[in-house]
Amino acid sequence: MNGPVACDLLIHSSSELVTVAGGTQRPKRGRGRGDTGVMERGAVAGGGGRIVAVGGPDGVRRRAAVGRDTVVIDASGKTVLPGFVDPHTHVVHAGSREFELGMRLAGRSYMDILAAGGGILHTVKATRAASLDELAAQTRRRLDVMLAHGTTTVESKTGYGLNTETELKQLAVNRRLAAEHPIRIVSTFMGAHAVPPEYRDDPDAFVQLVIDEMIPAAAGAGAEFCDVFCERGVFTVEQSRRILEAGLAAGMRPKIHADEIVPFGGAELAAEVGAVSADHLVHASSEGIRRLAEAGVVAVLLPATTLFLMGEKFAPAREMIEAGVPVALATDCNPGSSPTESMQYVIALACTALGMTPAEAVAAATINAAHAVGRAHETGSLEVGKLADIIVLDAPNHQFIPYKPGINLVERVIIGGEIVLERSVGR
Ligand code: NIG
Ligand code: FE
Repeated sequence: MNGPVACDLLIHSSSELVTVAGGTQRPKRGRGRGDTGVMERGAVAGGGGRIVAVGGPDGVRRRAAVGRDTVVIDASGKTVLPGFVDPHTHVVHAGSREFELGMRLAGRSYMDILAAGGGILHTVKATRAASLDELAAQTRRRLDVMLAHGTTTVESKTGYGLNTETELKQLAVNRRLAAEHPIRIVSTFMGAHAVPPEYRDDPDAFVQLVIDEMIPAAAGAGAEFCDVFCERGVFTVEQSRRILEAGLAAGMRPKIHADEIVPFGGAELAAEVGAVSADHLVHASSEGIRRLAEAGVVAVLLPATTLFLMGEKFAPAREMIEAGVPVALATDCNPGSSPTESMQYVIALACTALGMTPAEAVAAATINAAHAVGRAHETGSLEVGKLADIIVLDAPNHQFIPYKPGINLVERVIIGGEIVLERSVGR
């Protein structure tokens, strides 16, 4: 064992430290899925933006040398966790669509509203019209809310441009905010989010435009993943396959909005193309679930979307878990189907609506979510060498997250070893 390492951050005396360790190589699933490495009175020390020691108080004291400049946080009575990773959002968009809730309450479906030129297409109009500055300003406010709710890494999709210029504008917002905002941002290209009005009569021509023009442009503008809305009335399995394969050829790994509204073969396609994640999956078939497990595709579940769309059923999380599929959770933050920024709310729903245990849900919102965006090597758990992305909750244990739905328990957020947010929860 080497001597002590200088630390510039020490969080000690937590009532509960949740490391979520042991899932860096492979996402947590099967028997180890709810093994969150919980310990009482645990401590964590950071140096140079990374974790230099973590574990029981004595071990951390031996490993981490506290100096005059070390920021010391007494976490008595608090829970210390890795920052949440939100692996599926549409956070870059202009405007809002609160009026659609009234339309849906009056009996119109989400897909009907889209087919009539509203829904996603309403936001496309607003996003095309917004300047880069306006779009960045609106997005920045949502990132602030995410940060205040404990998210330290967020995936951000395009898909409200549906033309090359606006898709690139969305990616430019991601790049600008990645430089300006403490949250870590991962970019996904989703030019195939809907068929724009100008291609209504020839969706295949739009698919060709996505493949020939948008994909190469997006790959050169920082997008790491390529996503598609594979759904009845949007993009077929065949069109989705072509788009995802073209994305892969351009260096963007596949993701897919699969089986959200009706069973459509999206889970099967995700396994076939070796997607990093398959998302939604409310109506995934048992065969699709079996194939996801076999291919090791992460299932990203979005219960806040199902609840807001007043769906008849939630994603079969227990069936997936029993089948050995690694499960992650995300907000789906977007103006139509899930206007929330809070991963705590999603964890609460995962427990009460999807039947996940609090420990499974925490692993799904941290390390497994990091796998869904290719960041598990550097974040998603509290382990020596990883980035010091840490949150402190004003709660005695992690079970308080689902126990206090709708309440923001976050007291401190630390990204790369820097305290980027402190607030009083007032409980
Ligand atoms: O994941 N399903 C497609 N896309 C988003 C909704 C986007 C919107 O309604 O603006 C989703 O639910
Ligand atoms: Fe989505």
